[in-house]
Formats: sequence, C-alpha cells, structure tokens
Amino acid sequence: MGLLCGAATAYGADSAAKFLGAGSCASSGCHGGGGAHQNQFLTWSLRDFHSQRPPATLTTARSKQIGEALNIKDPTADPQCTTCHAPLREVPENLRGESFKVSEGVSCESCHGPAENWLRAHTRHDYTRADRTAAGMRDLQNLYVRANTCVPCHQVVSQPLLKAGHPELIFELDGQSVAEPKHWSAEKNGNSAQAWFVGQAVALREMSWQLGQAHVIEAGINFSGTNLVARCSALSWLLHNATADNSVVQLYAEDFGSLQHWADQQALEKSDLIWSDQLTQEYLTRLANLAGSFSNNQIPQYIQARRAERLVLALDRLLAAQNNHKADAELNQLFKLAQSVPDFDPAQFAAALEKFSTALAAP
Ligand code: HEC
Ligand code: HEC
Ligand code: HEC
Repeated sequence: MGLLCGAATAYGADSAAKFLGAGSCASSGCHGGGGAHQNQFLTWSLRDFHSQRPPATLTTARSKQIGEALNIKDPTADPQCTTCHAPLREVPENLRGESFKVSEGVSCESCHGPAENWLRAHTRHDYTRADRTAAGMRDLQNLYVRANTCVPCHQVVSQPLLKAGHPELIFELDGQSVAEPKHWSAEKNGNSAQAWFVGQAVALREMSWQLGQAHVIEAGINFSGTNLVARCSALSWLLHNATADNSVVQLYAEDFGSLQHWADQQALEKSDLIWSDQLTQEYLTRLANLAGSFSNNQIPQYIQARRAERLVLALDRLLAAQNNHKADAELNQLFKLAQSVPDFDPAQFAAALEKFSTALAAP
C-alpha cells in the first residue's frame, strides 16, 4: 500500500496476533447487546454493508464478467478480489482463533486489528487508550490511523481491474463515515471537516503512490491523458488551494514522489491539530473563490472536469461541517454541472461558482 500503509495489510494485521472472530466480541454483556452502548455487533451484522455485501458481491454476474476478463475462474477464492471483499481469507491458518469464521466479510478485526493480545484486557477500567494501542488495537479515534485503515480497500484498484470493468474507487473518509451506519458515538468522531481533510490527503497520498509505481513499472508510457492522472492532479489542486500551500508543482502532478510525501505530511499534521471552526471557514472561503481557475483556457477540459468533481464534494462536506444551508440551491446547481466529464463546460461552471460564493457571503 502507500507510504505508511506499507507495514499493514489489507486484511487488517499490523502484527502476528491471532484473529479471534466477531463471535468473540458478541456476547450480550459486551458488544452483542441491544442497548445503545453495546449494540456494535447488531449494527454491524444487520446494517453495515461490510458484514455481508463485500463477499456477496463476488458471487454476482458482474463479478463473473470482471473475473473472466482477468482469467480468474472463481472471484470468491482469488486473492485479487478477496483481499478487499473477503479479507479474512487472507489471514494465515496459524493466526486463526477458535471462533474465527472466514465468511465474516469485513469484520471487527479487519478494522480494529486482531484481538488476541487485547481481547481480555481491553474491558478493564484501568486500561488506557495507550495500553490498548500498545497491545495491537488500532487507535481508530485518531483520524490518520482511521484513514489508513479504510484506504487500502477504498482508493487504489489496479489498472487491469479497472480495465476489466471494476468501478473506480473514490475514498472520502467524512462522506463515507456518514454513509456507514455508525456503531460508535458521534461525539467521539472528531470534527467532520477534519475527517474530510485527513481522508482526502490520505487518498492523494495513495493515488500518487500508485502513479509513482506505474511510472517505475511502465517507464516510458505517457500517463498524462489517463483518468488516474487527471483525478490525482485534481485532488492535488484542491488540497493545495484549500491550504494555500504551493510547495509542490501541481498541474499534472508529475513529481509523484514529492506529492506523496506532501500529502502524507498534510494528513499527519492535520490529524494532530485541534481543529477550529475558523479553519473550516478558511478552507471554505478559499475553495468557494476558485471560479477564476475555471476560466483559464490553458487547462484541458478533462482536467477541469475532474477538478470540479472534487470541488463540489469538498464544498458539500465543509458546508455539512458548518451545518450551513445558505447556498444549498447554488451547490445543487454545481453538482449538476459537474456530473458528466465529457459534457463539462468550464465557463458555465465558473459562473455558477461565482453565484455560489455570492450566496455564501450574503449576510
Ligand atoms: C478490508 C477491506 C475494507 C476495509 C478495511 C474497509 N472497507 Fe468499506 N468496503 C469494503 C468493500 C469491499 C466494500 C464494497 C461492498 C460491495 O458493494 O461489495 C465496502 C463498502 C463500504 C461502503 C459502502 C459503499 C461506498 O463506497 O459508499 C462504505 C461507506 C464504506 N465501505 C466505508 C468504509 C470506512 C469508513 C472504512 C474505514 C473505517 C472502511 N470502509 C473500511 C472493504 C473495506
Ligand atoms: C482494493 C480493494 C478491492 C479489490 C482488490 C477489488 N474490489 Fe471490488 N470493490 C471494492 C470497493 C470498495 C467497492 C465498492 C465501490 C463503491 O460502492 O463505491 C467494490 C465494488 C465492486 C463491485 C460493484 C458492486 C456493486 O454492486 O456496485 C463489483 C462487481 C466488484 N467490486 C467485484 C470485484 C472483483 C470481481 C474483484 C477481483 C477481480 C474485485 N472487486 C477486487 C474494492 C475492491
Ligand atoms: C469498517 C471498519 C469497522 C468495522 C468492520 C468495525 N468497526 Fe468498530 N469502529 C470503527 C470506527 C472507525 C470506530 C470509531 C472510532 C473509535 O471510537 O474507536 C469504531 C468504534 C467502535 C467502538 C467504540 C464505540 C464507542 O462509541 O465508543 C466499539 C466498541 C467497536 N467499534 C466495536 C466493533 C465490533 C464489536 C465490531 C464487529 C462486530 C466492529 N466494531 C466492526 C470501525 C469499524
């Protein structure tokens, strides 16, 4: 995976501890109860798409088709698919505890880390967050750690998979955390604008890592027309503008190594901050005032389209963080204009962005 995900694996282990299975978390006195603070197992098993859907997807006609294009006989048993859709299959035999079940989909331990060394102790009242982390439980309250946990499955799919018809992945920690039925209390979820930023910086790091690899492996191929480069450069443009930081040359993001490093630093730095509402406002104001860059004819239309796509998602999350509905109608219009890459009209979008920013600034 990326820079710092190198140590982790998509199936969820940072160490050689055993996976004990969701069953070991699910007793009624622990996380298998019906009460508000004990219902994590029920929420996950009944409502979270992670428990059933990822492995079920591998049995569909569409998966069969993708598989055929790649000479994969059985997607439900091939590591090219199971690393993300059925990660417990990747756990080595010697690390499977007694109630471990391969069929559990993306399970508790895929995100929280294998439980062997913390299962018993983590219920003690004197057991601190630091104690748990030291015993191998992932500190998912830390947004950087959280983003690094989701991103191996949610951003990078290889070019051959994409060519075979796999959907493009977009990682958006804040938006996706909203979509995921939560089994934790909202107040511990941190500031949502902060989650948005850290997630986007981690996504950028992963994309630039992927492009750096592609350059090394397929040296000599011109990548500048590909979707991935356009998407990566659009996200780079967005985050550089949000932070008003121009330390990395951005247009086509050719220096993927520097970009990867910059993005990782940003993610780390911003996850350590005590995020203020003022920072959310600063980012929002900067991004709302980018109409000018859509009037720049030097930038190819397909790059502009990808920038617009990222920009509207960002505006949406920042407004949500402020619970701000002043410019809802104008934002809807921006969403419409950014919907189609081939039909994207930069001038029209620039005009709509001006309107959005005026509505936002109105008293
Ligand atoms: C081991 C891989 C893995 C990990 C780790 C993981 N997911 Fe997923 N997730 C998946 C797969 C695979 C699907 C697709 C399910 C399907 O449609 O088959 C999915 C689906 C989703 C969906 C619904 C579809 C979508 O993209 O909107 C959301 C939301 C989501 N995940 C959020 C998260 C968040 C937030 C995290 C981190 C806290 C996370 N996931 C961690 C593999 C993973
Ligand atoms: C890097 C992780 C990853 C790998 C590897 C991966 N997938 Fe996925 N796949 C996902 C995620 C995440 C989604 C959900 C995308 C969304 O909803 O936005 C998904 C969605 C899909 C969908 C669409 C589901 C739907 O109904 O919308 C299919 C089909 C699919 N994957 C099949 C496969 C097959 C077959 C393979 C192996 C050849 C594979 N995937 C490998 C992560 C992965
Ligand atoms: C897709 C990733 C993912 C999966 C799967 C998952 N969790 Fe979580 N869990 C999280 C995140 C993110 C948080 C929020 C950060 C935190 O509070 O540590 C969380 C929080 C929690 C909390 C703290 C609740 C609170 O309000 O303080 C408990 C307990 C928990 N999870 C148990 C479970 C159990 C049990 C399972 C399986 C039945 C499970 N989780 C599956 C990602 C996941």
